[in-house]
Amino acid sequence: LEDQIAGSDKESYLKEIRLIMNQAVFSYTRQIEMKGLGHAILTGETLIGDQPFAVVLADDLLDHQPGVLKQMVDLYERHHSSIIAVETIAPEQSRSYGVIAGTPAGERLTQMSQIVEKPDPAHAPSNQGVVGRYVLTPRIFDHINALQPGAGGEYQLTDAIQSLLQQEAVYAYAYQGK
Ligand code: G1P
Repeated sequence: LEDQIAGSDKESYLKEIRLIMNQAVFSYTRQIEMKGLGHAILTGETLIGDQPFAVVLADDLLDHQPGVLKQMVDLYERHHSSIIAVETIAPEQSRSYGVIAGTPAGERLTQMSQIVEKPDPAHAPSNQGVVGRYVLTPRIFDHINALQPGAGGEYQLTDAIQSLLQQEAVYAYAYQGK
């Protein structure tokens, strides 16, 4: 990429690319079988180790300054607990989302008591749907490792979070942005 950009009209981007490359280490892992989001995250367990980490589902585009993940990392620094981004959804959309329930725990925060993957509208515990940004404590791996197949026969991150919140506090965050 650097080679292709050098000498082109996009050369000014090189400085920014190099800045990022010098600040971060990039590693990747592959999920060879399609066994669900929980299973996908498990393929990163050895890379992540015993640290908190973020999950970004790249098909959810979220826009705000500061960025939504930055907002969530700041909250993590304060609470040292997992933070899950949520937004208000129309009741008929519940089959497309993980849906949460809980008790208010501060501005934009809910301490979660329940999370259900893609419920029927009649069984949705609220109108707060999960979007694809999570900051998770490494304890989540114990809960993913203990999973049985859930919705769609897949190993669901949602089910692991439902199990995690019985061990430690997990917060839903009504993010700022669109
Ligand atoms: C995944 C999660 C779901 C969440 C959604 C957000 O579902 O399983 O809980 O609400 O991402 O985009 P997917 O859309 O990958 O089926």
